[in-house]
Amino acid sequence: MDVNSVRLIQLPKIIDERGNISFIEEDNHIPFKIERIYWIYDVPGGQSRGGHAFIKQQELIVALSGSFDVMVDDGSAKQTYSLNRSYYGLFIPAGLWREMQNFSTNSLAIVLSSTHFDEKDYIFEFDEFLKYNKKL
Ligand code: TYD
Repeated sequence: MDVNSVRLIQLPKIIDERGNISFIEEDNHIPFKIERIYWIYDVPGGQSRGGHAFIKQQELIVALSGSFDVMVDDGSAKQTYSLNRSYYGLFIPAGLWREMQNFSTNSLAIVLSSTHFDEKDYIFEFDEFLKYNKKL
C-alpha cells in the first residue's frame, strides 16, 4: 500500500450559533462499513500511541477535541498529518505503518474501524512491516 492513498476527508459541518454539528455516514463519507468505534482519551500531553500497521483494518481517525499528529509510512515514504478540527477525518487504508504523536493535553481521538478488534491483524515490528510491504 502506498502512503499517497491516505486521504484527509472534510466532513459535513452544520454551522449553528447554538453549536455546530458534524457527522459521518458509512459508504457515504467513508469507503468502508464501520464494525468498531474506539476512542483514545486521557493521553498525557506529548505522548505517542499506535506505532504499528494493520493487515486488514481500514480506519478513519478524527480529532474530536485537541490535536495530535498522525504519521503514516509505507516503507519508502512518510507523511504526517496534523489533526486539530473535528470536521476532518484521516482515512488510512490497510497495510500502512501509522503512529499517533504529539497529543495535546485533553485531546480526544475517535477511530472508526472497518474490523472488530483482532490482535492477529496487527504488525507490531517495523522490520516485519517492511517485509510485508516488500520493502525489505
Ligand atoms: P493498541 O491498539 O495496541 O493501542 P495503541 O496502538 O494506541 O498503542 O491497543 C492497546 C490495548 O488495548 C491492547 O491490549 C489491545 C486493546 N484493545 C482492545 O481490546 N480493543 C480495541 O478495540 C483496541 C483499539 C485496543
